[in-house]
Amino acid sequence: MDKFIDKIMTADCLDILPQLTDNSVHCVVSDIPYGINLDEWDVIHSNTNSALLGQSPAQLGKSGFKRRGKPIRGWNAADRNIPKEYERWCSDWASALYPKLKDGASVFIFGARRTIHRAIVALEDSGLLLRDILSWEKPNAHHRAQRISGVLEKRGLKTEAEKWEGWRLGNLAPIWEPIAWLFKPYDHTITDNVLTNEVGAIHIDACKINGKSPSNTLKFWFDKDEERFHEAQKPLSLLKFLILLTTRENQIVLDPFVGSGSTALASAELNRRYVGIEINSEYTDIAIRRIATRQAFVEPASNILPKQKPLL
Ligand SMILES: C[S@@+](CC[C@H](N)C(=O)[O-])C[C@H]1O[C@@H](n2cnc3c(N)ncnc32)[C@H](O)[C@@H]1O
Repeated sequence: MDKFIDKIMTADCLDILPQLTDNSVHCVVSDIPYGINLDEWDVIHSNTNSALLGQSPAQLGKSGFKRRGKPIRGWNAADRNIPKEYERWCSDWASALYPKLKDGASVFIFGARRTIHRAIVALEDSGLLLRDILSWEKPNAHHRAQRISGVLEKRGLKTEAEKWEGWRLGNLAPIWEPIAWLFKPYDHTITDNVLTNEVGAIHIDACKINGKSPSNTLKFWFDKDEERFHEAQKPLSLLKFLILLTTRENQIVLDPFVGSGSTALASAELNRRYVGIEINSEYTDIAIRRIATRQAFVEPASNILPKQKPLL
């Protein structure tokens, strides 16, 4: 196991996970591909529907939406198979992950609102239990909801346009993202497990926000000087919150989909050991550089979260 500790590896996590020591990992914090076709690495299905993987005219030139990401109508068998393929993919790594966890270890999985249920089922089927679904609230969200009257007017349907005035095509503003919180089952009581495996309890005192105990709604965002390296990057303060809540110093935090290294950096800055796996070497290079150039002075954990300002 030692050769994997405090390392960022360029590899498919399915190749590395089986090599980790069983019952060794204290916590997993991972921002897995959401399976919503955000980028090449997020296409977790074999559906080659060019409308699905292409861009609509409204998306052209907008960096946030490289692809449509949703089957256009979702009516054919290949479109409907996408969620099942995502669940199977999650099952592959979840079953490799499970034996590596200590009993009582927490597993935090970031996901999309419309695909995370498949990841949760896969993780449950691997043997984990669901503790909660945390809500990560962002300060704002892109809102795309086209006026249907405008579409009808362009088609020359004046009467219909008047009838549908005020109606829109789209969703409500997506202000939150789910974080599934699972844990590995343990023998006897949680207190016994804490004594044996040193995981399973939560350190609320270390995670107070402006002096108050946190709820399961988490309002975190990037610091104003936090550099962005990955289009799916997560704020360090949020990752630190999850790590502080469930681990002690020197415990091992694993991220099998580490991207630009945010989980590993957050762990290192909190004096936790990390294991980071990322399939794309461009991101592993960034992750290694981010960690190497991190501030030599590491703030005491107790100073990190209370500085967080409420966002809403
Ligand atoms: C959502 S991103 C993680 C971004 C990360 N939270 C950050 O802050 O930079 C998921 C990452 O998983 C990587 N990935 C996809 N499949 C993988 C696999 N089988 N093994 C390891 N990494 C993989 C992708 O290349 C992508 O960078």
